[in-house]
Amino acid sequence: MTSQAVDYNALIPNNVGLADDPKLQRALERWHPGYIDWWMSMGPDGFQTAEVYLRTAISVERGGWAKFDYVKMPEYRWGILLAPPEEDRTIPCGEHVGEPAWQEVPGPYRAMLRRLIVIQGDTEPASVEQQRYLGSVSPSLYDMRNLFQVNVEEGRHLWAMVYLLQKYFGRDGREEAHELLARQSGSEEKPRMLGAFNEETPDWLSFFMFTYFTDRDGKMQLEALAQSGFDPLSRTCRFMLAEEAHHMFVGYTGVRRVVQATCEAMAAAGIDDPYDVEAVRKLGVIDLPAIQRKTNLHYSLTLDLFGSEESTNAANFFNAGIKGRYHEDQLDDDHRLVDDTYPVMKLVDGLLRPVEVPALNGLNARLRDDFMDDCQGGVTRWNRVIAGAGIDFEIRLSHVAFNRAIGEFADISVTPEGEVVEADEWERRRDDWLPTADDKTYIEGLMQPEFRPGEFASWIAPPSKGIQNMPPEFLYVRLP
Ligand SMILES: [Fe+2]
Ligand SMILES: [Fe+2]
Repeated sequence: MTSQAVDYNALIPNNVGLADDPKLQRALERWHPGYIDWWMSMGPDGFQTAEVYLRTAISVERGGWAKFDYVKMPEYRWGILLAPPEEDRTIPCGEHVGEPAWQEVPGPYRAMLRRLIVIQGDTEPASVEQQRYLGSVSPSLYDMRNLFQVNVEEGRHLWAMVYLLQKYFGRDGREEAHELLARQSGSEEKPRMLGAFNEETPDWLSFFMFTYFTDRDGKMQLEALAQSGFDPLSRTCRFMLAEEAHHMFVGYTGVRRVVQATCEAMAAAGIDDPYDVEAVRKLGVIDLPAIQRKTNLHYSLTLDLFGSEESTNAANFFNAGIKGRYHEDQLDDDHRLVDDTYPVMKLVDGLLRPVEVPALNGLNARLRDDFMDDCQGGVTRWNRVIAGAGIDFEIRLSHVAFNRAIGEFADISVTPEGEVVEADEWERRRDDWLPTADDKTYIEGLMQPEFRPGEFASWIAPPSKGIQNMPPEFLYVRLP
């Protein structure tokens, strides 16, 4: 079998020649029941026997890689799929730049590589756990299907990381694969590794914000790992990116549809003051200031995922050639950065301003800056919906230093506009900036199931088109 053809008939669909590697196959088959147990107990609650119109990856070629059909989620074909190899690929950065990419784990970097794979792997099941109760309050069958699509693909991403651990890291890889099923989002004893993945996703607006912002952190990390000199990791991440794009589409269009429902309801009721919250909420839609507060929360939580602005770990990963920059292979420099600097925002004499630091140490900040740019596009398009309705309101991304728990700004109090203030002033104004108890009660009250095909909850507009050219009223989920 060539490495590109997908063996779709195997218990574990794959294009990595699993049938020719009995040891690995046995390891994965031993891991499989634990995965299914995890999926049944921590995956979508109450919908395991529903038939969901899902896409399943059956090829890794560009275009036409997926087929769509009704699938019960526990029967989804979680496969191990790597993007096709690039001929004569070389290590794109660091001390080994230009040398042939590694097909086996480079000994000196084994521990670092394993750590990167485990951290990435840990986020995949975490988000499934965070979202497991949302199905029962879906605003439509269309949205329910999108939620479950995201969930099964995060499950597949876990498989992708577990494959790397078991194939390339022997016994400790198998132990890590086991631990990935043992940690749990929000658990006291065994939490997931990163903060944002232990937060709740209590309602659908949070889900859309999560898929817009936090899945986009996932995209940035995958982009950086797709630049790895360890070729199996690069190929794995390149294929995951194809799926990740849909998750961000779900988030972007989800928030846009929420904004649209609000604006349309306000127009129909003749309300043009977005701050007349009482009047707006009477319409059964989410007021724009509350949407702004949710934006602030999810954006700032996600910024923390990039870690400390200055990091010797990040420098080591890059130097070793196991993690690159965003679009490393398209950047026009020496890809070593030994003598370069990079401007990192810092607090200097009470003011926030960029300070040049050694570029190697500033790589987390750089990836975060690329993320911030990437976030702006969708926000600009959300604002077009608001402007189009003639409402004077603009959703903004908060300042990078606002509400941060990790790095340079963890110990200071900064407003969304970037003004440094005293801690007690910040606390006093917190409810202007972050979701309030009142927002929570109101939004959770809106979360009522709407399971009739083609119907949508009051607070979200129908999509402009359905999945795979199906209309919005298509039966996206056959409930049991
Ligand atoms: Fe993922
Ligand atoms: Fe994702």
